[in-house]
Amino acid sequence: MIISRSIKSLQKQIKSLKLRNNKISLVPTMGSLHEGHLSLIKKAKGKKRIVIVSIFINPTQFGANEDFAKYPKNTSRDINLLKKISTDIVFLPHNKDILKYKTSKLKQPKLPVEKILCGKSRPRYFPGVGKIIIKLFDIIKPDYAYFGEKDYQQLYFIKQLVKSLKFHTKIIPGKTIRDSSGIALSSRNLYLNDAQKLIAKNIIVILRKTKRELLRNWNPLKILNQNKKILIDIGVSKIDYFELRSENFNKNIPKDRKCRLFIAVFIGSTRLIDNIKIN
Ligand code: PAF
Repeated sequence: MIISRSIKSLQKQIKSLKLRNNKISLVPTMGSLHEGHLSLIKKAKGKKRIVIVSIFINPTQFGANEDFAKYPKNTSRDINLLKKISTDIVFLPHNKDILKYKTSKLKQPKLPVEKILCGKSRPRYFPGVGKIIIKLFDIIKPDYAYFGEKDYQQLYFIKQLVKSLKFHTKIIPGKTIRDSSGIALSSRNLYLNDAQKLIAKNIIVILRKTKRELLRNWNPLKILNQNKKILIDIGVSKIDYFELRSENFNKNIPKDRKCRLFIAVFIGSTRLIDNIKIN
């Protein structure tokens, strides 16, 4: 496994790999890797492509009162995990190199999906994610890039970004991976104590219950409100949102009810998100 810490050395590696007709897959991460990341990497490896994993805790996607300063970091553990699953290249750039890297011809668009759900309560999030993804795609020019469905809004946002900037990268989704109690894997789960984990495992239970009730009797307003109350009763500190959206994030749900249920809650001061497909 090659560990590349500079943009120049990474681009040199990529150039020689492309000359030998290799296709490049990128799995962008902020480190503190878990099975969710590893499943994306394994999926990419299965296609016999060169897999690059980037590890960069992107300061620009955190708001002023968010957890950038305490975001979990364990690079040596990450590197060992990546070696074990035979990752080809790890890109571990220095903060200042990425932040000062200029993508001269690419102007970041403002996309409507940035303003809703996570984007409403975290206004810096999508502009910050976009900023870094544009740089990574410009540096690496991946043929494929992998993003998890746990961050479904982010996955959609990236697809829109790729379309708008005419990147030649195909975006591949990966299924949400859950622990044995049903909690969707996230690096932020490390913030939860045992009592909070007991609350967190109810998120998927309530999502599935809400789905069953909706499919039995389509009355979203009533059913969502009832289940919001249950979430608070079982100890969720605050509900940021609990909403149905169509596959393209419209509030109007189509007649065939092809939509998803999205949730963001605080348990203590930890913000967790999840979503499930309804139809
Ligand atoms: O999902 C993440 O880990 C981050 O938002 C990403 C896509 C690596 C951008 O910093």
